[in-house]
Amino acid sequence: MNLAQKLAPSILNSDFLRLGEQVKSLERGGADWLHFDVMDGHFVPNLTFGPPMVEAIRGGSNLPLDCHLMVNDPEKFVDGFAAAGAYSITIHQEATANPAALARRIKALGCRAGISLKPATSLETLNSCLAEFDLVLLMSVNPGFGGQKFIPESLNRARALRRKCEAASLPTDIQMDGGIGFSNAAEVLASGVNVLVIGTAIFKAVDVAEATARFKALLK
Ligand code: DX5
Ligand code: ZN
Repeated sequence: MNLAQKLAPSILNSDFLRLGEQVKSLERGGADWLHFDVMDGHFVPNLTFGPPMVEAIRGGSNLPLDCHLMVNDPEKFVDGFAAAGAYSITIHQEATANPAALARRIKALGCRAGISLKPATSLETLNSCLAEFDLVLLMSVNPGFGGQKFIPESLNRARALRRKCEAASLPTDIQMDGGIGFSNAAEVLASGVNVLVIGTAIFKAVDVAEATARFKALLK
């Protein structure tokens, strides 16, 4: 199953003082989605932003807004992100007792539904709900901060997950997030991942548009 490969820059490590300008640079570079790393200071030891940030960027960009909720009680937040203009809402498997019901709720709100696993969470936890989700986000770092080192075992997890999806004839997007750069993006894509989340490697580059375009050129 050949799914379109997509680039989803994470604005977590962007320059918030010049965010509008940086979003335009991402668009010029060919970004497919914008990835929002939402953190509540409880599920992960960091606090970032909520629906107002999504709404603000919705007003200045037509790119699909891909919201990654690293939060406890995600049930409390999905309506707010949908109302703010989210294209997709990804919750954490570890943060909800009923992922399948939450997937149905997210889709009823008109958004694509994603589920994310921390590196230590078994793929088996997806067995009862995989078909409910449009996307699975495999974290390749422990969630909480950008700029961390890629966990190499993530590649085997992606291969195993792609086999699981294909065995069930599911056209599920597999997204990977954390520590992806020019040195490992090609092998991440070769492992069955078709959506790359990249933050630091783009925003620490001298030219954000040029770095975005270089990553985009790796995608089929
Ligand atoms: C971790 C965050 C990061 C961020 C991108 O919770 O989700 O993975 O998106 O990370 P870098 O900066 O490594 O691309
Ligand atoms: Zn993320």
